Formats: sequence, structure tokens, C-alpha cells
Amino acid sequence: MKTNFLRQVAWIFFPMLAFVNSAVASTGDPSRFFAPDSLILPGVYYYPEQWPESQWERDFRNMAECGFEFTHFGEFAWAAMEPEEGRFDFQWLDKAVRMASEQGLKIIMCTPTPTPPAWLTHKHPDVLVVSSTGQRIEHGARQQASWASETYREYVRRIVTELAERYGDNPAVIGWQIDNEPSHYSFSYDYSENAQESFRKWLKAKYHSIDTLNHVWGTAFWSQTYNDFDQIRIPNGKVMPGTANPHAMLDYKRYTADEAASFINMQADILRGIISPDQWITTNTMPGHSPVDPARMTSLDFLTYTRYLVNGRYRGYGEQGFRISNPDMLGYNNDYYRNIKGVTGVMEIQPGQVNWGKYNPQPYPGAVRLWMYHIFAGQAKLVCHYRFRQPLRGSEQYHYGTMQTDGVSLSLGGKDIVQFNREVKELRRHFDKDCRLPESLASVRTAILVSPDNRWEMEFQPQSNQWDLYKHTLRYYFALKSMGAPVDIVGEDADFSKYPVLIAPAYLMVDKTLVDRWEKYAEKGGHLVLTCRTGEKDRSSALWEDKLAGPVHDLIGAEELYFDHLPEDYYSEVLFDGKEYRWNNWGEIITPSPDTRVWATHSSQFYKGEAAVLHRPCGKGTVTYVGIDSDDGVFEKDLMHKLFKTEGLNPPFELPDGVLVEWRDGFYVGLNYTSETQEFPVPDGAEILVGDRTVPPAGVVVWK
Ligand code: GAL
Repeated sequence: MKTNFLRQVAWIFFPMLAFVNSAVASTGDPSRFFAPDSLILPGVYYYPEQWPESQWERDFRNMAECGFEFTHFGEFAWAAMEPEEGRFDFQWLDKAVRMASEQGLKIIMCTPTPTPPAWLTHKHPDVLVVSSTGQRIEHGARQQASWASETYREYVRRIVTELAERYGDNPAVIGWQIDNEPSHYSFSYDYSENAQESFRKWLKAKYHSIDTLNHVWGTAFWSQTYNDFDQIRIPNGKVMPGTANPHAMLDYKRYTADEAASFINMQADILRGIISPDQWITTNTMPGHSPVDPARMTSLDFLTYTRYLVNGRYRGYGEQGFRISNPDMLGYNNDYYRNIKGVTGVMEIQPGQVNWGKYNPQPYPGAVRLWMYHIFAGQAKLVCHYRFRQPLRGSEQYHYGTMQTDGVSLSLGGKDIVQFNREVKELRRHFDKDCRLPESLASVRTAILVSPDNRWEMEFQPQSNQWDLYKHTLRYYFALKSMGAPVDIVGEDADFSKYPVLIAPAYLMVDKTLVDRWEKYAEKGGHLVLTCRTGEKDRSSALWEDKLAGPVHDLIGAEELYFDHLPEDYYSEVLFDGKEYRWNNWGEIITPSPDTRVWATHSSQFYKGEAAVLHRPCGKGTVTYVGIDSDDGVFEKDLMHKLFKTEGLNPPFELPDGVLVEWRDGFYVGLNYTSETQEFPVPDGAEILVGDRTVPPAGVVVWK
């Protein structure tokens, strides 16, 4: 068994080593860009090119009066910056920068590369992306240019250089945002000839020989064998008659993520060579948007994200939840983005109704402020509202701004924002630079290990229409949050030893190095939790020539296992600590090895009485393996509570669903995402700085 494992590991490693990221990694700790006592900087988007110049001064004054400390320019203004090929016009932008800074506002300057001007794509239509069905995406929206087009990149290099030279030493400019939400939105994937060529190059660099590629992709299946790299076309999986080659699909996603990152890194490297070292560089990605991987954007100083919480898609908690949204929307992403480089911010958040939702409800009164506090609690260094003024023309009519359509009256959400901006200034006075994470929190700090490879692979091959990796992960995230545990969402580059608990949910693809690291982590005293589907595949997405998930059997204390799926409306049960719990997404039936404790057993189906959850001591720590995925997360919550209790980890809080308590810089931030008033566990003697221990729906309490 072990020999096969090692043989397959060898296949995985050498191609991976071949692909080297050429970007210049940013240097230094990005927290140096932000004064610790400023806590969080509030800002707002403004588009000088969309408004009469005669209104700019008034708008910047109003912005400053609202308590904003920076504004954000230029990400869609290429046509105004370079109205004709090679003719640059920055006078209007100079003026806007000057006027904003006269009102005390700092500026985030953006590269305008999501919006190539009409003259560019008219002259070079080959720079446009092409959909999987072969349709060219025309001028008229945004993000229509291919990152793989050398022609496009040449134009990009030029405009970025011009901008860097113009504003790289302007003290009003605090930082740079590259592009905007790098992606092609619903056309996430590019099938243009530029992309085809670039994908082949990527594959050659990775596999060197076509035989290796044929082996890793398993092309003997369905006669897919290639004689040469030149024969490879991007598998347009959605329209193929039959399931596309999964290894090709995974590589295509990896390639696309690398291409997006190389486009961003290229721009960052240009900026870095010109701008002042006091200006930082970031971009704003959309969380979970496949196949973009922010962690690959290594030339940036830090990553930010964009989030729209109320748009008819999220039901939240209780009757008004659709106006408040779900707490993972910000919480999970704070905990993920912060850990990429140690600093994060939220670059876009809605000030009210949006125009593009499934339907567009008004946020609950106070919800916008609640979100600000959640972003604050997640240790963000900046929060930028999208946008100051509501557009009167163009694609986003009916999208709220901080101001109403008249441009001068605060919108409903605008009032929330002004309140937050004022309160943050007050909180700054309570900042204590010597404050450290309290021991009660440090002792339960938990890491959740994630990888884009697992996500991409399971997106393509979920095995069950009920499988959802993100929701599966959230069941653990919220179990932890219900105990008030600080959570970091990390990748494999993290130092696991910092965390008393490490959870790797459905960690499908592993290698020996990772399994050994997990084992050492537990041996040294860590509490490792692995869940269903972990370890089934190698890094190239092949099943092991072993028992299913064989490489983790010793670690989890299993001899063998198989899995089962149930119809959507059919539930099966497991018995855990005398109580029955329902599952129906994924269930594993496990034969434990003799020395392993069984924590839960199946209580129905033909495998009644067989193990569903295992727990075993491992050195000074423990390993828990959870074979089922529930729908409602109740099982996962009770299980995590039991683990914490059994292992002497004392959770600081016991919170109902939708109620969160986070800690940042000495401040405890209580957030009520429910539709009911909640009592928060503010200890006697604590100083309440914002709100009260009785918190209304979408309300907040902050104490020290
Ligand atoms: C974001 C995008 C912005 C704007 C906003 C509207 O996703 O980055 O440019 O379109 O949505 O809600």
C-alpha cells in the first residue's frame, strides 16, 4: 500500500516544481503602511469622469464631512486617461486629486485595465475574450480583454507606466488598486486563441513531455491521447458530449488562476519599480470566484475583497434575515484574506440597495453599520464604500450611493456610514498599543485549512448535487464561532503549530508531506479534525492505487471506508452521545482500526451500527475524523463542542446562531445578525464603548 503511495507522489512532484511563479514578491510587513492607532480607514468610491467638474469640489467637501478619509479613483477611466491611442490626458485627474486632497482626503489610485477603450479593441479585436461556445465578447461592458493577449498586455504596460510616473510620488496617493475584481465575471473562462496558446505553453512548462501529460491526465481513457502539445485545445467542458477530462479541467483552472495572477503581478511589478515605497499595492478580488486565486498574486502588498450582502440571494437568520444577510459573507472572508499577507481591507461594500440582485431589498436599518463593524472586527485596515454618488446614467442605475440621486442628500445607508465613521474616531481614542490577544481566545484559536485545488476539483466533480464544499466548511466555521473561537482560514504555507485546533474540511487531494505534517501536528499536541472525502486523491486528482483514502487511514485510525448518498428529501441518522442527528449530503461508513474510538455510529440503513465518526489520541494531541455532512450544521456544532470539552479547550462564549463576538486590538465586538433582540455576554465590569448589552436586530455592541 505504502509503495503505491510513494510512487504516485513522485509523479506529482516533479511537474509541480517545473512551474515557477516569476512574479516579484512584495517585501516587508504590509502593516507598516497603516498606523495601528488609526484602526480602520473609511473611504468611498468616486468617479470624477462621470460628473461635471463644477460639482467635484462640493462632492469632496461633503465626503470629508461624512467622515471619509480617502477616496478611490480611476479603475474604469481608461478612455478618459487615454482618449486616443498614445494621447494621454491626466489633467482632469490631477485636478480631482488636488481637490480631494485639499479636503484632507487621501486617494487610492487604480489602474484602469478592466475597461479597454473602444479604439483599442476596435483596432485589435483579437484581444477580446471568447466564451466556451466560441462567441467573442464585444465592447460595451467591462472585463472583456484577455489576460493572455500580448497585444493587450503591451497597452496595459504603457498606461500603468504613465500612471505610475504621474502619481507615484504624489503624497495624496496612499496606495494603488490594480484592475477591478480581476475576472471575466460570468464568462469566467477565456477560450480565445490567445488563451489556447498560453495554456499550451503553461502545460509544456509544467509537464515537459507529452507522455507525462498523457499519464497524468489519464488520456488512455476514451482515446484522448495527444501526440504533441500543439494538439491540445482548452476543454470546453460545459458543452462537451460527456464529462470532460477532469485532470485537464483542473489544469485549466490552475492555468487561468496563474494567468490572472500574472496579469496582476505584471502590473504590480511595473508600479513597484516606479512608485514611492510609501504607497502600497493591492487589488480587490471577489471571494470564491473561480478560478481566480488571490494567494497567487504574490507581488501585491496585501489583498482586499469586495462584498455585496443583500441582493435577494441570502436569507440570513429569521424573518428579516434577507435584509441583514449571512455572517459568513464578511466573517469568513476577513479570516481568509487577512491571512494571505497579514493585512486586509474591504474595497467594496454596498451602501444600500443594489441594481443587479435576484431582487433588490432595502438593507435592514442599521445593517450597513453592522457590516462596517464586522469588517472592523475582522482586523481590516480599510473599508471603502461603493459608491459616493448614485449613478444617473449607465449600467448601474438604481445602485445606491452614500448620497441619493440628487448628489447631496444622505441615503438611508449613507446615514449608517456616517454614524460608523464618527464612532470609529471615538474608538481610536481607546486604542491600546500594548494589547494582545487574551489567553482565553489564544487557547482556542483554530485554523481551517483550505486549498483552491480541492475547491476547483469538487466544483467539477461534486459526485452529488448536494455536495457543497463551501457550505460544508461553514458548518465548522459557525460551530467555532458559536464558541467565540478566533478562526484563521489558511493555506498549506501556514504554520499549523500556532493553532491548538486545525480543521481540514474535505481535504480531497493530499501528498505524503501533508499527511506527515498533519501527523506531527497532532503528535505535538494539536487537535486535528479531518472530514469526509479527505485524502481520496493525489495532487493531480488521481485516485490512489490503494483503498479509498488509504493514505490517511493510519492517521485517522481506519481500516477502510466507503461513502453513500441519499435523495435530497431523504435523511438518514447517526447516533452521537445518545442523540440522533440527520444527514443526507454525504455519509461515510468506516471500519475503525482496533485502538480507535468510535464517536458516532450510523443508526439506520443497511450499515446500521457502523462507524461514522472516529477519534483517537495521537502523541500529545488527537485526530478526529468526521464521515458525514449534515444539512443544518447542528451535528457539526455539537461535535466541535464535544471535542473542545473533551480536550480541555475552554470556549469563551456560548452564542446562538447569528450572534457573533469577535476580538480586535482590545475591543470585543458583538454583532447581531438575527431578526430578534439579543442579550450579549458582556462581562460585569467591562466598559461598553458602543451600544448596549441588549442589542436589536442588525445592532452592535463594543466593549473593552
Ligand atoms: C462590484 C464591482 C463594481 C460595481 C459594483 C456594483 O462587483 O466591482 O465596479 O459594479 O459591483 O454593485
